[in-house]
Amino acid sequence: MTAMDPPSLPLQLPLGEASPGPIAADLGQLGDDCRRCRRCGLADGRTHVVVSRGNPAARLMVIGEGPGAQEDATGQPFVGRAGQLLDQMLASVAIDSNRDAYICNVVKCRPPGNRKPTALEIEACRPWLEQQIRLVDPAVILLAGASALEGVLGIKGGITRLRGQWRRGEREPLAGRWLMPILHPSYLLRNPSRQQGSPKWLTWHDLQDVRRRLDQLEEPRQPVS
Ligand code: URA
Repeated sequence: MTAMDPPSLPLQLPLGEASPGPIAADLGQLGDDCRRCRRCGLADGRTHVVVSRGNPAARLMVIGEGPGAQEDATGQPFVGRAGQLLDQMLASVAIDSNRDAYICNVVKCRPPGNRKPTALEIEACRPWLEQQIRLVDPAVILLAGASALEGVLGIKGGITRLRGQWRRGEREPLAGRWLMPILHPSYLLRNPSRQQGSPKWLTWHDLQDVRRRLDQLEEPRQPVS
């Protein structure tokens, strides 16, 4: 095995259970390290490594699956149609995606033909995501879609059942953070109905819950009498 090979690790471990690899001092260095990364085969087909967009000081982190064509072309996550819908839905609960959120993906390079990243690719990219979480230090993390649920919590399948449910992270780097799986915006583009009970309607309710959580976290502490 060479330094270029992906690590051979057990698959589908939750974040924090196995993350060998370099540790960056700050997000600038992390970006540079990501751009040099050849830990898996996705490096061969990429135009850009897609690290993040948004505000590194935000209390909210949104984690998606991986770059698509537009993200690969621009080097920015969630800038295609799914990203525009994500922005609109966040805006509907007064979250500005660039000011109030830090947005990234479980894999930083585009899987060919927009296929889902494999468990091994997610595993190879995990040290970068783990360091992003440590350095940004968000209070609330949204897991957009099944790959984010798998990549961060090690839960394979069940996004439609688990969406909207809060979890409290137990182990580093998730310890103490609030996590909520939500439906992926690409899925919402394929299911555009806004009727009561539709995927879009459910997601809007999930995001309202996220808004409430952020508001609670931002409430000034009451003095103890
Ligand atoms: N879908 C994702 O999961 N991430 C992106 O950056 C774009 C589309």
